Amino acid sequence: MTRFMPAGALHGACTPPPDKSISHRAALFGAMSSGPVVVRNYLDAGDTRSTLAAVAAIGARVEERGGGDLVVHGVGLGGPSEAADAIDVGNAGTLLRLLPGWLAGQEGRSWTLDGDESIRRRPVDRVAEPLRRMGARLAARDGRLPPLTIHGVDLTGAEHELPTASAQVKSCLLIAGMLAEGETIVREPAPSRDHTERILRRARVPFDHEAGALRIRQVDELELDELTVPGDASSAAFAVAAAACVERSRIVVEDVGLNWTRTAFLRIATRMGAVVLGDLEEPPAAGAGAPPPDEPVGELDVAAAPLEATSVDAAEVPLAIDELPLVALMGCFAEGQTVVRGAAELRYKESDRITTVVGGLRGLGAQIEALEDGFAVHGTGGLEGGTLDAGGDHRMAMLGAVAGLASRRGVEVSGMEAAAVSYPAFESDLGRLLAR
Ligand code: S3P
Repeated sequence: MTRFMPAGALHGACTPPPDKSISHRAALFGAMSSGPVVVRNYLDAGDTRSTLAAVAAIGARVEERGGGDLVVHGVGLGGPSEAADAIDVGNAGTLLRLLPGWLAGQEGRSWTLDGDESIRRRPVDRVAEPLRRMGARLAARDGRLPPLTIHGVDLTGAEHELPTASAQVKSCLLIAGMLAEGETIVREPAPSRDHTERILRRARVPFDHEAGALRIRQVDELELDELTVPGDASSAAFAVAAAACVERSRIVVEDVGLNWTRTAFLRIATRMGAVVLGDLEEPPAAGAGAPPPDEPVGELDVAAAPLEATSVDAAEVPLAIDELPLVALMGCFAEGQTVVRGAAELRYKESDRITTVVGGLRGLGAQIEALEDGFAVHGTGGLEGGTLDAGGDHRMAMLGAVAGLASRRGVEVSGMEAAAVSYPAFESDLGRLLAR
């Protein structure tokens, strides 16, 4: 049990850890490259260690230079060897969903992806079904869960209409599209994070993005030499929420990624009344085409203020998906009813985050109800406190910690070590903002 006591105001500056989503992609795209790729500010955490181990298992060599700097000596798009046929993805859903896009196109070779207890509950049919339409041969437990066995074949391009906006599924299909004969088209019902598209641009892989459709064709190789990973906006969101909920707080968050597909939580927090100042990237104008190759990075200045309830709907959900538990927490401190809808995807995260957020916050005294596709919180201006079980979910552990600082009696978090999946220095970073 780790205890987080009611805090005085948070002050000072913090820097979030490197972005988890972009680190996974940097290691995978480095491994898919034929020449060495220098990666700066790679995340050193459980999930992204799993990705380094996975790319090493299929033949890439990772040279760690310290301080988050790596050189990935890849095997090229067509070069994964069969050195290891079992790949352990640990707790990493992004690795589980992206890697099959590459392996499915390796004619004559086979791999099995498996991971921890939580990963075994995470559906893979969302990537297996569209990959099969490209000719892929995959087998999952009960047709939808890991272990996932992939028998590589020569893929053929296909047109995909995704039922749900998902950057993982989109990325998997774009990767497969680089290997497939002909054209691959991916349409999403709403935009999701676009880190893969930006890396494709950096790697000079031609693709089109028009009227909601991504089109990609077979390429021989990637031209990627260097990538710098910005600070993780999802990890930074915990400090932002703490500063927003604990009275008289004012903090600065430095070197954080401000890609518009990751900052909807900051827009929601602002709508709720929190003071969030920063140079957030603007959403592109209609018809703008592919995103730029670079990830915008900047600083945020965050201060507490009285909070008001808000509504979050389906269009905003994919752009704030990992931060929605924090919207629920802020809803407890807001005036009125905060409602999140169109977020059934939360049920398929490291835990069923509708059930765990509602159960966890209710145990701390919140008036919160589960909906089929989200939750409704009746703000009472505060939170009593109590005990919260992280249940092995890193974001639930950190939610409990922030809830504790903002609560009246404090929160004991059971399973705080889960935070190391994405943010190993979470407790010490938070502690520094509390030090006077
Ligand atoms: C991610 C996409 C999102 C997100 C996950 C990371 C990614 O998942 O929740 O933490 O790196 O592409 P979905 O694609 O399932 O929405």
